[in-house]
Amino acid sequence: MELQYIKKTLENHVLIITVNRPDKMNALNMQTLSEFEIAMKVANTTDEVRGIIITGAGDKAFIAGADIIEFSGYSKEQGRKMVENGQRVLKLVEECSKPVIAAINGYALGGGCELAMACHLRIGSVNAKFGQPEVKLGIIPGYGGTQRLIQLIGKSKAMELLLTGDTINAEEAKNLKLLNLITTPEDLIPQAIKMLNRILENSPLAIRGIINSVNAFYSDGGCGFSSEILEFVNCFGSSEFIEGTDAFLSKRKPDFNKSN
Ligand code: COA
Repeated sequence: MELQYIKKTLENHVLIITVNRPDKMNALNMQTLSEFEIAMKVANTTDEVRGIIITGAGDKAFIAGADIIEFSGYSKEQGRKMVENGQRVLKLVEECSKPVIAAINGYALGGGCELAMACHLRIGSVNAKFGQPEVKLGIIPGYGGTQRLIQLIGKSKAMELLLTGDTINAEEAKNLKLLNLITTPEDLIPQAIKMLNRILENSPLAIRGIINSVNAFYSDGGCGFSSEILEFVNCFGSSEFIEGTDAFLSKRKPDFNKSN
């Protein structure tokens, strides 16, 4: 399949996957997500690939979320398919047997922040910005954001970011342990490659074992991810969802209380 929105380069066993829709802040429409899924599956089964870096094209955004224009007209059923898809693809990243580093070069919002959180490590340039602004659109995060943000930064701060929809900068993200490292924009990819190469000096079997074991810590018994799908779908078609997405697309501030 010809990839339209995903670029791949492989050098010295390191695969760089670039989400390539810079004019739309690399927003993840369904086609991009599906191309990304294929790229991840191929990477996981190609012996020549030993480590993966995920980044976004251009200097403004890593990924500014799911494509609001695309999903603003979705029915509940389409909304359910969308988040089931998204969660499945991000699990592929999280459960990849090879180390995956997010190289974050700008906005990592909504699904972009969620994708970065599904990676095993995160390196951000000084202009990286993080947030889960879905609440402002009348929906909730649906690609695992309500679950992984708690895991990475703890419940209290996760609640604050999820409920306010606030955006934080690279330094705050580093203080919250959302970011492993901050670099200059020019150094972002070289530093990601450097960190990956340090990891790749170690045993591939042990690397895989560590990834599986760390993931296992979070996976027993929890039903947060299914709850997230139910709650996400519940927002679809609501007046607040219509108001939130319409406000974004019309470039105005939403008024969620006007019908109350
Ligand atoms: N979905 C669809 N299109 C998006 C998008 C998204 N998530 N994020 C940005 N875009 C588009 C904009 O609509 C705009 O397209 P246009 O040029 O055809 O009008 C283009 O990308 C550039 O974005 P713009 O808003 O003009 O850039 P900015 O520098 O003023 O602001 C952001 C950048 C990232 C702060 C802003 O685009 C934004 O808030 N995006 C939405 C983030 C979000 O809510 N994500 C969660 C979605 S669930």
